[in-house]
Amino acid sequence: MDRYLVFGHPVRHSKSPFIHTLFARQTQQELEYGLAEPAVDEFAHALRTFFDQGGKGCNVTVPFKEQAFTLVDRLSTRAKRAGAVNTIKLTEDGVLLGDNTDGAGLVADLKSHGVTLADSRILLLGAGGAARGALAPLLAELPSELVIANRTHAKAQQLAAEFHDLGPVTAQTYELLAGPFDLVINSTSASLQGELPPLAPALIHTDIAIYDMMYGASDTAFICWAKQHGARQTMDGLGMLVEQAAEAFTVWRGIRPGTKQVLRELKRNLGVI
Ligand code: ATR
Repeated sequence: MDRYLVFGHPVRHSKSPFIHTLFARQTQQELEYGLAEPAVDEFAHALRTFFDQGGKGCNVTVPFKEQAFTLVDRLSTRAKRAGAVNTIKLTEDGVLLGDNTDGAGLVADLKSHGVTLADSRILLLGAGGAARGALAPLLAELPSELVIANRTHAKAQQLAAEFHDLGPVTAQTYELLAGPFDLVINSTSASLQGELPPLAPALIHTDIAIYDMMYGASDTAFICWAKQHGARQTMDGLGMLVEQAAEAFTVWRGIRPGTKQVLRELKRNLGVI
């Protein structure tokens, strides 16, 4: 049977096996999908061993995405732009192809929530790996402007310069941000520590769409805060998780699984509904 898995550390709580098993069942594909948690300095070896032993493809998550970028034979355009690899496929001719489906997953999830990206003014919070992965797919949707704000402003400036050729992207400090924005995407890891990015409440209005790439059994700190300040449409990163997985599954199997039912089952599994 074709074997796939996700590499991460820690990875025990990964939802990827659950999601891909449901995709496989739905599309009647025969495959198995497992977990691998190599020591941080043993990822390269573990990856090679997996493919030497007949593995067909894998996902890569924290903290291995940047390392995976350096270990594959060939990179997709979107992986090159992201500077990180979350999906690897062994091609027919034995080439390890590195791809990145995170940004496509974000855009697909935003669209499934009815968020319009064309001609919209987007604020992207954070300038780490998650922001980098989102930029090219977001700019491809032709927003009127995309502003990056980051605690360490120099990193936002650097990202804006790096993606300037793809669209109207600028950097601004949190203090000098000027609304109105149609959509705010939180790519920071602040919610992990129960913290908030230092965003002025005045930037939140009733018609704004709020997206937090983080998710949990209850609202993230950022979503709670945005709701308190009047945001009516808030979304967390669970949909992005399912959509990036669907994109990876499509890369591997050449068949696109439906995501709605799988997202519902995942929510049930997490105790969200
Ligand atoms: P990831 O790969 O998930 O993006 P990362 O590369 O470590 O992780 O980036 C984390 C991002 O969250 C950074 O933009 C970080 O800001 P700095 O560049 O200033 O470190 C941001 N971040 C983390 N904690 C934050 C907080 N409490 N407030 C605001 N931004 C925060």
